[in-house]
Amino acid sequence: MSALFTPLTLREVTFPNRVWMAPMCQYSADSEGDGVGAPHDWHRTHLVSRAIGGAGLILTEASAVSPEGRISPADLGIWNDTQTEAFADIVREIKSHGSVAGIQLAHAGRKASTTAPWVGGTSIPADEPLGWETVGPSAIAFGDHATPRAATVEDIAAIVRDFAAAAQRALRAGFEVVEIHAAHGYLVHQFLSPASNHRTDQYGGDFTGRIRILVEIVDAVRAVWPEELPLFVRVSGTDWLDEDTAGLEADSWTSDQTVALVQLLADHGVDLIDVSTGGNVQTRIPVEPGYQVPFAKRVQSETTVPAAAVGLITEPKQAEDIVSSGEAEAVLLARELLRDPYWPRRAARELGAEITPPVAPQYARAF
Ligand SMILES: Cc1cc2nc3c(=O)[nH]c(=O)nc-3n(C[C@H](O)[C@H](O)[C@H](O)COP(=O)(O)O)c2cc1C
Repeated sequence: MSALFTPLTLREVTFPNRVWMAPMCQYSADSEGDGVGAPHDWHRTHLVSRAIGGAGLILTEASAVSPEGRISPADLGIWNDTQTEAFADIVREIKSHGSVAGIQLAHAGRKASTTAPWVGGTSIPADEPLGWETVGPSAIAFGDHATPRAATVEDIAAIVRDFAAAAQRALRAGFEVVEIHAAHGYLVHQFLSPASNHRTDQYGGDFTGRIRILVEIVDAVRAVWPEELPLFVRVSGTDWLDEDTAGLEADSWTSDQTVALVQLLADHGVDLIDVSTGGNVQTRIPVEPGYQVPFAKRVQSETTVPAAAVGLITEPKQAEDIVSSGEAEAVLLARELLRDPYWPRRAARELGAEITPPVAPQYARAF
């Protein structure tokens, strides 16, 4: 009996298995014209082929809640009707293959207005046609990116509203899961971490101040996201700087703070934490197979909210062990699914497990 291929129900959504497609930016949307931020053929192929491959949940790439929230001008977004309708088409197709469709909602904050990674991933100056002024919790730059403007309290209120409006559009598009992106050094993580948040108002300072924007976003999204549908949050479990400093008072974001945050989010209607790490400060990360799993395990074992693990999970037995040992409720795969969209079907075969969703009849002779 495979734990990995046992369905999981959160609220009223049943995930047919626990191998999920992690969000992956494609930097491939139109940067200008009517289709700005709208998914098209490339995104459809990217997402639907992993549904055909058997992933139990397909999470879209970070999809911006406002134009300024995009990492690059070619990011997906969900702030207008054209984008919503384009997503709806793809969502229908993902579901037709038996996978659950989810969207990651994001704001890039001080890491916005950059070129695609394969063009360098560097800041596009605000005065260039495709660039814009970035905002962050404080006027502190990430590496050699442009220095952001410190968000005003009015900016923060607007961002919270943008997340809620995006969730309403996601619902209209047919998504069954919303994941709030609070990881990888993007806007919410910038607020969480004392390394990037030097504010002295109610959105900075102590732990309660730094997490306030996320709690407000969660509450605003939960207020419009149906009771029967699950809400996920992706966090960076650590900034990889002060892991040895106990409690909530380290100078960067740590796993102790993650655990405290998650336990609090349990009372705000969050159903699962997708646990990644890093991205907010430039430091060495000890990357190895499953290197982020211990951070998911802490959430899974020390809070009441289920966790999903991600990061260099590439082998069927490794994934099976993570779930069967209770380190995490599910696993997310990113690059391995780029190499092999059929990884879930291959893993099931290797583990001698039966997989739902079943293979499409057109492909049955191959499986
Ligand atoms: C091409 C690419 C794009 C990514 N885009 C996102 C994203 O939009 N949102 C996000 O939270 N993580 C993003 N990530 C990180 C992945 O979701 C995942 O956490 C990371 O790649 C580690 O998992 P892996 O070892 O299975 O690749 C991206 C990763 C890749 C390779």
